[in-house]
Amino acid sequence: MDITFSELTLPTSGTLVVAIKAGGKLGGPATALDKKMGGAIKRAIAASEFKGKRGTVKEILLPPKTRLDRVLLLGIGEPEKLDALAIESLGGAIYAHTARLSGPVYLTVGPVAESKLDSPTRAAHLAFGVKLRAYRFDKYRTKEKKENKPRLKRITVLVDGAAAARKAFAPMAKVAEGVFMTRDLVSEPPNVIYPDSFAAQAKTLKDVGVEVEVLDEKQMAKLGMGALLGVAQGSAFKPRLVVMRWNGAAKGAQPVAFIGKGVTFDTGGISIKPANGMWDMKWDMGGSGVVVGLMRALAGRKAKVNAVGVCAMVENMPDGNAQRPGDIVRSMSGQTIEVLNTDAEGRLILADALWYTQERFKPQFMVNLATLTGAIIVSLGNLHAGLFSNNDELSQRLTDAGKKVDELLWRLPLADGYDRMIDSDAADMKNIGDGGAGSITAAQFLQRFVNKVPWAHLDIAGTTWSKKDSPTVPKGATAFGLRLLDRMVADHYET
Ligand code: BES
Ligand code: MN
Ligand code: ZN
Repeated sequence: MDITFSELTLPTSGTLVVAIKAGGKLGGPATALDKKMGGAIKRAIAASEFKGKRGTVKEILLPPKTRLDRVLLLGIGEPEKLDALAIESLGGAIYAHTARLSGPVYLTVGPVAESKLDSPTRAAHLAFGVKLRAYRFDKYRTKEKKENKPRLKRITVLVDGAAAARKAFAPMAKVAEGVFMTRDLVSEPPNVIYPDSFAAQAKTLKDVGVEVEVLDEKQMAKLGMGALLGVAQGSAFKPRLVVMRWNGAAKGAQPVAFIGKGVTFDTGGISIKPANGMWDMKWDMGGSGVVVGLMRALAGRKAKVNAVGVCAMVENMPDGNAQRPGDIVRSMSGQTIEVLNTDAEGRLILADALWYTQERFKPQFMVNLATLTGAIIVSLGNLHAGLFSNNDELSQRLTDAGKKVDELLWRLPLADGYDRMIDSDAADMKNIGDGGAGSITAAQFLQRFVNKVPWAHLDIAGTTWSKKDSPTVPKGATAFGLRLLDRMVADHYET
């Protein structure tokens, strides 16, 4: 999907989208266009009782006195209430309405006077919304009928100040590239994406200037990562630790760090999951998928920050060599863990990945993303991800950034009483709680591998995959967390 910007003129072919305000009122380009069309837009609005409600669309075919094929009236509601996010949603709605058209589509950005954002900025956000919605993972659908596939190849945004719009859109396009990489990685089936093939994809980030190291089993054994290796030992696929570095700030500047859970398939191991729905566990690497896409976004837009991304990659399988319930493993931190449930594997691999990141990189903060618990879906459904943190400022920054990009977080407590629930009689801790508060005890477990550094854990089990389309996120892999973290870095951590 190509998006271009050009100066505002009445196009001579294809489809033109014009913004209509609440109450069916014309503004900006629509007024001029209506004149050129001999009042056809006003008549169409009156005849169809189009109210201009935000996100609604009305089609006028073969508009008179033009050579256009159609005009789409796009309701934008009250223009003064249109913030960046609302404009992106409109872009997504336009794409959904025009994806199956073949001719060119032209967008106008609507009335200027009432909006807080200038025209080029609005044009860029509109384009970003189009772009995000236009993602599709269809490489394995070899027999899909042509008429069901999107045909639209190009959208042109018409705006006074096309050059400025192009400039504002450039970093957004880089973020979209990161989002798409994440969505691809998460959508791929588990026979295609496994730890080593995931690492190979991460290595392509070298092309955008990211340093990528991949640790194998031997190197991890040498570091003492017994918790991560214990999870991996039942799989024919060997584990990998992917370490990425983007150096966009001064050489010595303390990095920010992102850590992902990357279970490329979670059967549960010997504590095996039920057959029904097990296929969903291909996206149990969603956290790592976001970390790679985020690194790509930061590098792509040349963010002025030093950032580290660490992905803990394993497959969780039952096998003659698999870890048993009751096994005790020694983590890199030296702490021992009684593995009572092999399906609580995410916390085990993150224990070593968090410890490694903190020891090696001494980051300003660590944020880990993980499809960690089914319990977070019970608590928050798929509207908010769970946020757990040892630091109020970091929590606030994450929450605020999430609101700006519509990736909502809800903070849940950490407390000593919950920590007691993972004490073990046989080892330093056990990997499941005593019952109840399943997402919190999982977070308490992670916290035992974090020292003084500000840290947050995002439990994205409910938000990594979506069963329905939303304006800028087609159903499937969402890349939830990527735009949020990119935003937070841009707002607070760039020099
Ligand atoms: N990957 C799952 C969590 C999950 C469940 C993610 C559903 C997305 C959708 C995780 O590894 C897991 O199995 N957690 C267990 C923990 C339990 C054994 C303490 C769970 O949530 O049931
Ligand atoms: Mn599991
Ligand atoms: Zn899992």
